Amino acid sequence: MRSMRGFHQLVILALGVQVLLFWLSRSRDATLTAFSPARYPLLTKYFIGHQGEGGVWYLPPEWIQGQSSRVPSTIVEVAEIVRNQTNKPQIPHSTIPLVMHQTWKTTNPFFWSEELRRNTEKWLEAVEDAGMAYFLWDDRGVSQFIKYFEPGLEYGLNALPRKVEQSDVFRILVAKWVGGVYSDMDTEPLRNPVDWIKESDREAWDDPATGVVYDSTAPIQAIVGLEAVCRPDTDQYWRMGYKYPVQLTQWSFAWTPDHPILQRFLDTLAATLQDVLSNYGGTLESPSARMELANLDPLTLTGPAAFTAAVRRWLEGTTGLRWNALAAHADRSKLVGDVLILPITGFSPGRGRYGNMGSKPITDPSARLVHHAQGSWRKTSLLVEYGKFCRTFFGLCRDWPKVPHNILW
Ligand SMILES: *[C@@H]1O[C@H](CO)[C@@H](O)[C@H](O)[C@H]1NC(C)=O
Repeated sequence: MRSMRGFHQLVILALGVQVLLFWLSRSRDATLTAFSPARYPLLTKYFIGHQGEGGVWYLPPEWIQGQSSRVPSTIVEVAEIVRNQTNKPQIPHSTIPLVMHQTWKTTNPFFWSEELRRNTEKWLEAVEDAGMAYFLWDDRGVSQFIKYFEPGLEYGLNALPRKVEQSDVFRILVAKWVGGVYSDMDTEPLRNPVDWIKESDREAWDDPATGVVYDSTAPIQAIVGLEAVCRPDTDQYWRMGYKYPVQLTQWSFAWTPDHPILQRFLDTLAATLQDVLSNYGGTLESPSARMELANLDPLTLTGPAAFTAAVRRWLEGTTGLRWNALAAHADRSKLVGDVLILPITGFSPGRGRYGNMGSKPITDPSARLVHHAQGSWRKTSLLVEYGKFCRTFFGLCRDWPKVPHNILW
């Protein structure tokens, strides 16, 4: 009985802390600092006064030569121009075009936090240095993109109850149709994408458990990063909230357009939506259909677990990869087929001691970018925090929701 009381006290303490953090975050969000053009010359150059619909874009001048003289007025038109363009410059050692995508609800840096301005300025420096094309998609641009390029999914995507699910799917869609690097706005580049792959990243590696050697010579068509590398035989991964012991990040990746893995992800999602549709007589608008959609776990529907599953199934099927072999040789990149899997430090350096999983400091040469996880706790809910707390400290609540269930929470 006593431990039960202790448990409740801890839970109440955790909830109290959460309320405090939430309250602090609100007061922090409210402070908007004035935009300084001197501090952010590239944001000023490309964003302030940008004309056009659906977001902000930049194409290196040599990309536009020989194009029709009509100046595109929407981001979707520009995306199509870039998709159609042959001989785009590529990330060396790969067929991934030098194109960068981000998305945010607004493209006016006046209304951004300093952190967002800093990150984006850094990406723009990388874009200029490398001669990349750049797209920042706003909400309108995202919906126009879906309508234009993937109309078959539009109805289903609009019915998804959470904004994060749209954003999850959009990054896959833009990778499929345009390709290049996608990175969340709370990431900061540490190595220019043009320098993300070195010859040594292609070296053969072996699975110590089976002796199988992976020595692909295929051109690299995708770069993905590890978010979690846990021992599969312990409960560590699910206590930290991961679906798989070896899980990929979705906050950043890079693709050659039309990669079959992207289609695999979309097909799985479409099939799930189709199931719900047929359960409810072909409509997703009834309250019960909405309820069923809201009850699907976004992590496994569109989030990192869904993404990991798509990559995993593809690589297992086409190369015979033993997925958990990716936990071996923790410090190096692993090429499997045409997919380069970076070590955890690649896209997730600088992790703290809890849940470090081999992540090295952001100064490590293998670190490509850092994820600041901006706002992840600001938008969380008490219900979700309760589950996180319970998993972390007690090893219970494995199936407790990891993301807010609906807007009420
Ligand atoms: C892109 O290519 C498609 C198919 O060849 C063509 O229909 C379309 O007009 C092209 N779009 C642009 C903007 O060049």
